[in-house]
Amino acid sequence: MLFYMKSDLYVERLYREAKKAMKKAIAPYSKFRVGVSLLTADNSLYTGCNIENPSLMLSECAERIAVLKAISEGVKDIRAIMVVSNKDGYCYPCGSCRQLIYEFAPDSEIFVTDKKGIKKYTVEELLPHAFKKK
Ligand code: THU
Repeated sequence: MLFYMKSDLYVERLYREAKKAMKKAIAPYSKFRVGVSLLTADNSLYTGCNIENPSLMLSECAERIAVLKAISEGVKDIRAIMVVSNKDGYCYPCGSCRQLIYEFAPDSEIFVTDKKGIKKYTVEELLPHAFKKK
């Protein structure tokens, strides 16, 4: 894990875009708003926000939306993923999203944020012993 106080330009861009995406969150039940942005090798940007549903099990995480948006557009090289939320404390991807990220963005940097700063992780750090279908 790396702690960022001063961010690189692409990290600042990711942060800005994740905050913008968070504004689109639909979270009337939890009030927990999440925004995600990701960058590909050619610097294309995709974003997502959590979208809750009255049938709560149908709610979707922001990470899932962002990653699947990119993958469904043919993206093969997600390099960095940024997660922000409207709550204090770092918002880490949930277990399901970690497995999804492992599958589709195994080499990406994962950034999580708090008012204290930005932390960077590898996928392996967040999901050791991931499920692999040999
Ligand atoms: N959530 C995300 O979108 N991403 C995360 O990393 C953690 C949780 C959403 C799911 C739900 O809409 C709300 O945040 C928490 O209840």
